[in-house]
Amino acid sequence: MNIQLDSQGRLKHFLGIEGLKRELLIEILDIAASLIQVSEKAVKKVPLLRGKTVVNLFFEPSTRTRTTFELAAKRLSADVLNFNISSSSTSKGETLLDMLNNLEAMHCDMFVVRHDEAGAPFFMAQHVPEHISIVNAGDGRHEHPTQAMLDMFTIRQHKGEFHNLKVAIVGDILHSRVARSQIFALTTLGAAEVRIIAPRTLMPKGIEDMGVKVFDRLKAGLQDVDVVIMLRIQRERMRSALLPSEQEYFQYYGLTEDMLAQAHPDAIVMHPGPINRGVEIESSVADGSRSVILQQVSNGIAVRMAVMAMVLGRIDKPLETAKDSLV
Ligand code: CP
Repeated sequence: MNIQLDSQGRLKHFLGIEGLKRELLIEILDIAASLIQVSEKAVKKVPLLRGKTVVNLFFEPSTRTRTTFELAAKRLSADVLNFNISSSSTSKGETLLDMLNNLEAMHCDMFVVRHDEAGAPFFMAQHVPEHISIVNAGDGRHEHPTQAMLDMFTIRQHKGEFHNLKVAIVGDILHSRVARSQIFALTTLGAAEVRIIAPRTLMPKGIEDMGVKVFDRLKAGLQDVDVVIMLRIQRERMRSALLPSEQEYFQYYGLTEDMLAQAHPDAIVMHPGPINRGVEIESSVADGSRSVILQQVSNGIAVRMAVMAMVLGRIDKPLETAKDSLV
């Protein structure tokens, strides 16, 4: 049984892409597409989560994910609490469960959780009462499911259906929760080919079992791909030196204009952020006409709105018209 689904197969929590069916992923993308218009209106609000309280619990730093979750919740008319972990009583030894119990006592409806421990959102989902939903905003090296869904949304926006697409994911695969969620999403959505490109020290053992093709040379891996997804080197998760130097990494795995010329002429360039210019990507590529990096950020709001409204049972099909739903 998938803990994130209710007895009717609807989303109850959103913890990971692994194990979710294609139809459900398409439903998230379609609902998000109908919510894009909300952020383009003069009044950027719909009443889907009016009366609900969302708590952002970020135990790790974040720029894009935390702010877009907050904006998404506010655009759904929820009350939002950004819980400051560093000044909370966790610093006095309070456990995660005790903290949760106390927040539950304040009648919250949803916790959006980022944690450096893989599995923390699953643990929380197992311990919260029935009426509370947990949304994973990135757990350790495990999954970052809303990031993957906003990436799928952006790919579909530019490329249409997935079944003809060759997608390359490049960089620190070993430490990347984003790559894992993207691989689950792309293979479930039927992408023609998912390529993983990384130095051997940053390639997880057995990754082929996830249905991907493995390359350790950037030039070969980028041949004719439609989508290039670059990843950051995650020094904060490395327990030993796995790379000689950032300069050398850039020389072999950095996405330059010359390297991008190996991809399909219409290929788009993506990156979940934060980007490290001159380490995994050249500035002219990050800021160039084929980069959709900032569109990914914008799309994150609609995708997170869709997920939040779905887990609280407030929407199960695309909004018909924005007019019907305005506050
Ligand atoms: N992509 C992403 O998770 O970025 P943040 O760490 O800034 O949230």
